[in-house]
Amino acid sequence: MVLRNILNNAKRLAPNIRTMASQGPFVDLRVDNDGISIMTMQRPPVNSLNLDMLKELNESLDEVAKNKSRGLILTSSSPTVFSAGLDLMEIYKPDLKRIEEFSTMFQDVWIKLFGSNFVTAAAINGHAPAGGCLLAMSCEYRVMVQGKFTIGLNETALGIVASSWFMDTMFHTIPIREAEHALTSARMFSVDEALKVRLIDESATDKTDAINKCKNFIKKFDKIPPLARSITKQKIRQNYIKKLQENRAADTEEVLSHIRNPNVQRKLEMYIQSLKKKDTKD
Ligand SMILES: CC(C)(COP(=O)(O)OP(=O)(O)OC[C@H]1O[C@@H](n2cnc3c(N)ncnc32)[C@H](O)[C@@H]1OP(=O)(O)O)[C@@H](O)C(=O)NCCC(=O)NCCS
Repeated sequence: MVLRNILNNAKRLAPNIRTMASQGPFVDLRVDNDGISIMTMQRPPVNSLNLDMLKELNESLDEVAKNKSRGLILTSSSPTVFSAGLDLMEIYKPDLKRIEEFSTMFQDVWIKLFGSNFVTAAAINGHAPAGGCLLAMSCEYRVMVQGKFTIGLNETALGIVASSWFMDTMFHTIPIREAEHALTSARMFSVDEALKVRLIDESATDKTDAINKCKNFIKKFDKIPPLARSITKQKIRQNYIKKLQENRAADTEEVLSHIRNPNVQRKLEMYIQSLKKKDTKD
């Protein structure tokens, strides 16, 4: 308890301490016996996406594109969190040069995952707010483990406006009216609610069940000629990707302008404190 308080005080004085202290690798990539790539996010405690983790995701996606596996399953090593989304320490009192690199890297990861020519599925074995939800929605199929987990784009609750490509990914996944309401109200869906609007495709009893269901999805494509499959997927997704590719600098500038806003910084500080308050109740 005393040690935890000291660490929390240190983090308050130097918000980037978590980023500097994190040790990789943050992503584990292996091809299993079925010839399927399993990409596991493993950045404790909550797989929040900082620049280093995004770089590893980016490199791992390049590897999957080359390794000729049957498809990709994205999952997490945490028993309760798929990914907590952006590392708030990257955007709270940020290093503006670093945040520019961070924003560009996040765009790269999304373009590679959403626009991949290989089959993708997410085994969501825990909470998936914000960027966690984005990564899952960027896959073609989602299986979420039952429990008190939630998924959704909650950026507005933090006073942040999600990038257009976050929104587009949601429009690609659930009906636009559901998406508009979810985005404006920062709605976090329970597993059952997510199933109802097809934000996820199936629920699972545990991580193994989720992985197996993702594999069944990937194996469905065994009889489909891969080139026809991937060109079809890319034709369906290309407009969203083109939109970002043509506006990358403007998108980064928009992110920077939100983050520089003192009101956004104040709101972020309160939000980070509210996450930490749970500690003091121990
Ligand atoms: C993901 C979540 C549901 C997991 O809940 P949990 O298992 O009870 O874990 P905690 O909330 O206690 O978080 C564990 C630690 O990770 C930190 N953390 C959580 N989400 C984080 C994030 N996105 N970025 C940085 N740190 C984060 C917490 O502050 C806490 O730090 P501490 O150990 O120093 O106190 C919850 O952490 C959460 O809602 N996080 C915020 C997600 C979010 O709003 N992301 C939007 C980013 S734009």
